[in-house]
Amino acid sequence: MGTKGFITGTGMYLPEKIVTNFDLEKIVDTSDEWITQRTGIKERRISRDDEPTSELAYKAGMKAIEDAGLTPDEIDMIIVGTFTPDMLFPSCACIVAKKMGLEGIPALDLEAACSGFVYSLTIASQFIENGVFENILVIGADETSKTVDWSDRTVCVLFGDGAGAFVLSSKGTKNEIKGFGMGSRGSGHDCIVIPAGGSRIPATQKAIDEKLHFLTMKGKDVYRFAINIVSHTIKQAFNESNMEVSDLKYIIPHQANIRIIKSAAKKMGLNEDNITINLDKYGNTVAATIPIGFHEFINDGKSNSGEIAALVGFGGGLSWCTILVEL
Ligand code: UT7
Repeated sequence: MGTKGFITGTGMYLPEKIVTNFDLEKIVDTSDEWITQRTGIKERRISRDDEPTSELAYKAGMKAIEDAGLTPDEIDMIIVGTFTPDMLFPSCACIVAKKMGLEGIPALDLEAACSGFVYSLTIASQFIENGVFENILVIGADETSKTVDWSDRTVCVLFGDGAGAFVLSSKGTKNEIKGFGMGSRGSGHDCIVIPAGGSRIPATQKAIDEKLHFLTMKGKDVYRFAINIVSHTIKQAFNESNMEVSDLKYIIPHQANIRIIKSAAKKMGLNEDNITINLDKYGNTVAATIPIGFHEFINDGKSNSGEIAALVGFGGGLSWCTILVEL
């Protein structure tokens, strides 16, 4: 068995349009004060009608490939973590491959909602560790704005659109994956859900009239789950990798709520400066939060080589996953 993979390139892409909390005050009964205090979000990016998820994914992916010093033809496989593909099928990854001019390589989507990117990275890591592939493009991209009811204040204020990407390679000098821990709890599958549009409730006029095609969330239940799962999954990753949790230096968490992030820092005994926060700027970009967070984190240059960072995803499924990276 070889390395689990080196993150040799990172990239991100956000739609241009910024929607602030004050903008939302004009369309739903909410306030900047409520959103800021309860979530930490100040603004988010919203994609254009003619800008599907594959477009954000393609742009973030190209930046990661360039950052790795590669060209698209050196990519052996594409995995896209997303719950908002352009359409139910084909996969977003196949559309990204087409945009990159790549024919013949495997391309697939992985649907694990907010854990989608970290789940995808663990799958990519298997192909690197087994020596099958040398460079895999892993993307997390979502356009939740196109799944929410813009008159439902309990949901529409929370999310934003965006994409982030890594190139995971068999050779590198830093940012090496050392291990991971992951899991799911299907008993909570109805906590965050888009009920219609699949095989249980097909897309019909009745389903639309009943608003079943919109994302709904049992916010309090998910909050309770999230508060407990973050420290659990970090410890799980350290245990399963035979590493010492006392070596944890940074957390790059999923960006759902500032209160969940601060609680995680406290539980793990970390200073808040050692935990990335960007949901004030982008909201919850679902599968994109972690690659965007890691991209910004390593580019701000405050970390040192050899330190351990935990990339922590949690959300719909319910699902969770932590990946440990030696910087
Ligand atoms: O990424 C996937 C994982 N997702 C998460 O981890 C999200 C986890 N959950 C949360 O972050 C929080 O539960 C929320 C931010 C979604 C909600 O915060 P909360 O503190 O749990 O608020 P709440 O749902 O208990 O609502 C409190 C009050 C309610 O009013 P009443 O019943 O007390 O009169 C809501 O109707 O706030 C009201 N409310 C709002 N008020 C103004 C709900 N949404 C809004 C809003 N603006 N946007």
